[in-house]
Amino acid sequence: MKHKIDFKINRLLSIAPMMDHTDKHFRYFMRLLSKHAVLYTEMITTGALIHGDRQRFLDFNYVEYPLAIQLGGSNPDDLAVCAKMAEDEGYDEVNLNIGCPSDRVQNGQFGACLMSNKNLVADCVNKIQSLIKIPVTIKTRIGIDDLDSYEFLYDFIKTTHEAGCDIFIIHARKAILSGLSPKENRDIPPLNYERVHKLKQDFPTLNITINGGFTELDEIKTQLEHVDGVMVGRAAYQNPFMLVEADKVLFENSGATPTRTDILNEYRDYVAEQVQQGERIKNLTRHVIGLYQGQPGARKYRQLLSAAVPRDKNNIQFLDETIQSISSYSP
Ligand SMILES: Cc1cc2nc3c(=O)[nH]c(=O)nc-3n(C[C@H](O)[C@H](O)[C@H](O)COP(=O)(O)O)c2cc1C
Repeated sequence: MKHKIDFKINRLLSIAPMMDHTDKHFRYFMRLLSKHAVLYTEMITTGALIHGDRQRFLDFNYVEYPLAIQLGGSNPDDLAVCAKMAEDEGYDEVNLNIGCPSDRVQNGQFGACLMSNKNLVADCVNKIQSLIKIPVTIKTRIGIDDLDSYEFLYDFIKTTHEAGCDIFIIHARKAILSGLSPKENRDIPPLNYERVHKLKQDFPTLNITINGGFTELDEIKTQLEHVDGVMVGRAAYQNPFMLVEADKVLFENSGATPTRTDILNEYRDYVAEQVQQGERIKNLTRHVIGLYQGQPGARKYRQLLSAAVPRDKNNIQFLDETIQSISSYSP
């Protein structure tokens, strides 16, 4: 178990689980921008944890706390075993993916399609919660296909809450399970924030986080008048610096606000350490491409980071030169 800082999780702001994005390096970078946001792993399937390289999947850095693992699966026993592994490793929360619409996930009978089987999800919650002390939470949609009435969502939340889940993250659009790609399913079905607000009114004791389409601090603040937390996905990747201001305002941080270059310099030291341990520099630098979004020099910065690492340069020198270049344009 990792060294644990003991503090109660504040769920005002969280960074969404994103496959191929929210690996441990990205989460480290996020923590430099926000000291408080709850961070989520990519979805990890029960099969991967039980049969795959468990240590690699579970690995994280203690600075990432507060940190949740997201599991994908639908077998209550397998989920419980994996949840226990996560708790023993030091995670703060186990989150169930009941929102992913991909074909691969549907073939495995988990993700968003589980919304139509609330009793199975309730069994999963019950089984997991009987084995671990950290909370099990659910990330879901407002509906699937034509199961998209408020009553359907209400029943799903009620049943899974009665099984032991008190914390929900709701992506405020339904999923369409055939005919749309996962990417289209994040854009095409319309957002319906009011439905999530109503859920909070009907279940005032539950902790409800809203997700979907937030890019600005003002929108986040407005949502917090209706729900307990806001989860940000793509914007954290595309314009990560927005989190510095969000963190300062939402958590009333009194310290000096870091500049983009301060953050990049801090990340540089982590990169140097990881490269020394054998990690490929591209696996680290790909996460910081959006840092100067909208700033002078951003285009050149992105080009430098996206270019191949020249053979005649040792790895960290490549990043140092990029930092030198961008800091001549933007702080
Ligand atoms: C590249 C990518 C990968 C994603 N992977 C996951 C995932 O593993 N688990 C999950 O619950 N949601 C996943 N999502 C959905 C996000 O968590 C989030 O619900 C969605 O992007 C809407 O939030 P946003 O508008 O703030 O991006 C992914 C989204 C993106 C863009």
